[in-house]
Parts: sequence; C-alpha cells; structure tokens
Amino acid sequence: ALGAADRAKFAASWRSVGFVEDGMKVGLGTGSTAAWMVKCLGLRVRREGLKIVGVPTSSRTAALAREVGIEVTSLDQAGWLDLTIDGADEFDPAFRLIKGGGGAHLREKIVAAASDRMVVIADPDKDVATLGAFPLPVEVIPFGMDATRRLVERALADLDVDQRRTVFRPAGEGLFVTDEGNHTLDLHLGRIGDPEALSQALNAIPGVVENGLFMDICDAVVIGREDGHVVTRH
Ligand code: A5P
Repeated sequence: ALGAADRAKFAASWRSVGFVEDGMKVGLGTGSTAAWMVKCLGLRVRREGLKIVGVPTSSRTAALAREVGIEVTSLDQAGWLDLTIDGADEFDPAFRLIKGGGGAHLREKIVAAASDRMVVIADPDKDVATLGAFPLPVEVIPFGMDATRRLVERALADLDVDQRRTVFRPAGEGLFVTDEGNHTLDLHLGRIGDPEALSQALNAIPGVVENGLFMDICDAVVIGREDGHVVTRH
C-alpha cells in the first residue's frame, strides 16, 4: 500500500499523463512526483502501445524512463517539444514556480521553455500565496563561486525579501554537483516580494547559470490529494 504522500503524487501523475497523445515529444521532469509521472507514462506505453519520445531533464529521470520502456532522446535531437510535465517545490496563483529542490532546475527550465506547454504536478502543500518559504536554488559555476556568492548577497540587499541567508548545498563530505557539473546555492529568503526583479538580478550576475524561479512557463497545475481527488487549474 502507498503512503499518503505517494497517493497524492500518483493521483496527480496519472491525471497528467492523460494529456499525452500519440506522436508527442514529451519533456520528463525530475523529482519524486515526476518519477511517478514517468512510471505512469511507461505504463501507457507498455499497455496501449502509446508512441512517444521522452526528453529527460536529468540523468536520474533518463535512467528511470528507459527502465519503464519509454524511448528517450536529447532535446537537440527532438528539436521542440509538445508538452513537458514536471513537479515543483512551490507554485503561486499566477503559476510562478520555485523549482530545483532536486537540483535539476537548469535542465528543467531549458526543457520547459522549449515546449509548447508545461504542466506542473503537485500536492496541495506546494500551493502558496507568496513564493519563498522554500529555499530558492541558484546554479553556480565552480570557478569563482565564493565571489559569485558575495555578488548574490549584495544583490539580495536591494531586494524585497524577508531573509538573506545563502548556503551552498552539501552532499556527503562535499558539495552537491549538478548534471552540468555546477554547484547549487540555496537562498533562504522566507518571502519573495518581486520574483521577476529577483530572477533578473540573479541571472545578471557572472557565475550564476540559472535560478529556480519559473515565470511565464507553466500553463496548468494538476493538484493531487492523498484521497485520490485531483483538481486541474488552467
Ligand atoms: C528538481 O530539480 C525539482 O525542480 C523538482 O521538480 C521539485 O523539486 C519537486 O520535487 P518533488 O516532486 O520531489 O517534491
């Protein structure tokens, strides 16, 4: 039997793969919710003979997709995608997102931006009025990373946030390394007053590759509850 959290993730995932049609090129997200979606999509491929090509947003998702029988290719091979389905750490009423809790937001953002539509799958805990309780991930190139962090902190001083603590994400004895060979600087901000201004300020800093704020990318959110009930917001 599934635990409550997995029931919610499964419910949202199963509904979301209903958007996938024969012949589509589909971006496959990363994280514990997206993993359920990949398994659900694999089930449709095996059971119905659904013909699709998947573009994974991480090495983890690529391995899982192959395991469940989904043909995978690179974004460059696919060219452009019909649909991307991914999780999120937070979403607000304007469908602005925080992503990257799983450390894959750079590839996730590239893939979602190269798709006609992006659908987010989530449980109700991710539904927030204002973004920022979840730490915002920023992908930083290793070269000069401490100087980059100082510039990030300097930029934060002028922005409408409640806290300004920054932490390079640890992993084992060292630092977390992304699929692109970079590190992740987590920004503990409490509340993000102006996500657009913050995103622009962060991405203007040399050494910052990409931040985890997604704006004007997500088209719909599928919210699954642990009792199996699902709501889609467009
Ligand atoms: C991965 O980099 C993230 O963007 C995930 O999509 C996000 O963190 C949601 O993950 P969970 O589904 O595990 O909560």
